[in-house]
Amino acid sequence: MLKKLSIAAIAALSLSAGGAMAAGDAGHIEDVDFSFEGPFGKFDQNQLQRGLQVYTEVCSACHGLQYVPIRTLSDEGGPHLPADQVRAYAAQFDIYDAALDEDRPRTPTDHFPMSGVEGAPDLSLMAKARAGFHGPQGTGINQLIKGMGGPEYIVSILTGYTGEEKEEAGTTFYENTAFPGGWIAMAPPLYGEDVEFADGHSNSLHHEAEDVAAFLMWAAEPKMMARKQAGFVGVLFLTLLTVLLYLTNKKLWAPVKGKKLDL
Ligand code: HEC
Repeated sequence: MLKKLSIAAIAALSLSAGGAMAAGDAGHIEDVDFSFEGPFGKFDQNQLQRGLQVYTEVCSACHGLQYVPIRTLSDEGGPHLPADQVRAYAAQFDIYDAALDEDRPRTPTDHFPMSGVEGAPDLSLMAKARAGFHGPQGTGINQLIKGMGGPEYIVSILTGYTGEEKEEAGTTFYENTAFPGGWIAMAPPLYGEDVEFADGHSNSLHHEAEDVAAFLMWAAEPKMMARKQAGFVGVLFLTLLTVLLYLTNKKLWAPVKGKKLDL
């Protein structure tokens, strides 16, 4: 028994001392200051449009956004594209129409296509399905300060490749410092200067990664700004109610407590 234990301990030690990361470890996630963080955070419309471009020109080759209706691209608070651009955007993807029994170009009422490559997950909810920050000690308390870290996780995956690869059971894995376990089956999709932004914004690897992560956050929670606003109005209302209740309470008890009432 003792011997078994010590062998396991040595194996665990050498695992963690060995590769960049032992299997099962959470990866390293970098904290990014996104415009939409905090109680008054807002999506940056230009950033969402740039992120849409990165998604369309690079990620959409493998990943779908099948739960996102294309018409939402014209939403205020989102990418806010003009209606004609949204129609043109939709028309570049075909969809099978059962009524016509043939493929036709999509219209804004259709959704984005599904993932086209086996093994590539749909990205509609990815920014909310992953948490970037788990600490300290796995309690998740720092999510209160830094946020869940979904978009940060995506940025860190896209920028976390070390350049190492290995082949296992016919699949190539790429070493990635953010991916749990350290090896991901997605080849590095971005290298920097992969897309040309119309607004002249930097297209370095890090900027492209931030823009597409912001876009995916919007895709996963398009009503985030409305939610925060409603929350703020709610808190304001409760504060006012508290003040009124306090004054009412004072007034009601004043005669009992024998104070002179001058309210
Ligand atoms: C060549 C196809 C391909 C392209 C292009 C591609 N991916 Fe992937 N992606 C994959 C595959 C395959 C996986 C599954 C990897 C795994 O589970 O090991 C994946 C996984 C992911 C994950 C999930 C990681 C997790 O925690 O499960 C994210 C996030 C992601 N990709 C984002 C992107 C973004 C953003 C882009 C565009 C910049 C992109 N991908 C481009 C194939 C691709």
